[in-house]
Amino acid sequence: MSTADQAPAPAPSLDDVFSPIAWRDGTLYLLDQTRLPKEEVWLRCDTPQKVADAIYRLSVRGAPAIGVAAAYGLVVGLQGVARREDLGRRFDEVAELLLRTRPTAVNLRWAIARGRAVFEGCRDQEPETVRRTLLDWAHELHARDVETNRRIGEHGAALFAPGDRVLTHCNAGGLATGGYGTAVGVITSCHRHGRLGQVWVDETRPLLQGARLTAWELERLGIPYRLVTDSSAGALMARGLVDRVVVGADRIARNGDVANKIGTYVVAVLAKRHGVPFYVAAPLSTIDPDTPSGDAIPIEERAPDEVTEVFGTRVAPAATSAQNFAFDVTPAELVTAIITEAGVLTPPYEESIGAALAERPPG
Ligand code: MRU
Repeated sequence: MSTADQAPAPAPSLDDVFSPIAWRDGTLYLLDQTRLPKEEVWLRCDTPQKVADAIYRLSVRGAPAIGVAAAYGLVVGLQGVARREDLGRRFDEVAELLLRTRPTAVNLRWAIARGRAVFEGCRDQEPETVRRTLLDWAHELHARDVETNRRIGEHGAALFAPGDRVLTHCNAGGLATGGYGTAVGVITSCHRHGRLGQVWVDETRPLLQGARLTAWELERLGIPYRLVTDSSAGALMARGLVDRVVVGADRIARNGDVANKIGTYVVAVLAKRHGVPFYVAAPLSTIDPDTPSGDAIPIEERAPDEVTEVFGTRVAPAATSAQNFAFDVTPAELVTAIITEAGVLTPPYEESIGAALAERPPG
């Protein structure tokens, strides 16, 4: 990434919304989350390749944020197309490029499928009109994601009792969404309603989304938290220090199995062992009706050096090979409830998910 691609903050809102995505003066900016919390650098993404690279490198990450970034990425991809007859081929190329970046977060596929439907409805028009229509749609998707998360927050907060100590894994905050966050959105709403004791933040190896990003957000929100190593969850629960767990999701299968950041499954097993409610907070767009169970969820495997190194410093012997699953699957039987914008879904999930999806408004 050259310095020309880095930009001063384009003054997006980093209040409680924390949107990591901004469209300013015809250009897409993404907050480079690989640099947080040390520095706030916004990447100027004026080609689809830059958008794809930002998603792959985890500059923008978290399932809903990837979906919103990809929506704007489609607009970026059509910039510079002068002839109507070139639009279709270009759209397909850009959609393919974006889809190849990360396989697990279904919001990416979901957003691109919706973008395609919008494109099909206007592709016969002048290129400028097509771009304008897609941009309006991307803005709406972005705004709707924030609204969705606020609703998730309210539904989730109603499950908490005053003083609850909640553990979360990875970062499912504003940074991971269009804004406000899912799991951190629930935590924020809880805090507002005066029901939150404190948050236990799993550091989340290997890329430390908990230590770097969730802690950064909670600090700014003024929400009390303590950082713990991932392996602390059992000890905390055994001492009675965790009242609830709330995490996000990258994809939820039709039967309620949940793919989320590696380590989530361990937390869920421990929660079951200790009788701690385990909640998943996610928009309906994270539920994939085409995936029957967790076995069918593609799990991203990332470079081994994310494990053998800690931010560029080798910590394992030179010859060490490593396995780096980015996500794991928590079976539905360990999930107490799925908190969505449409309400709190409970087992049996085939039924509650089926009903929620059937009532979902189109678009
Ligand atoms: O690899 P990441 O940082 O994209 O993983 C993110 C997660 O696992 C989040 O919990 C999930 O995407 C939900 S974000 C609201």
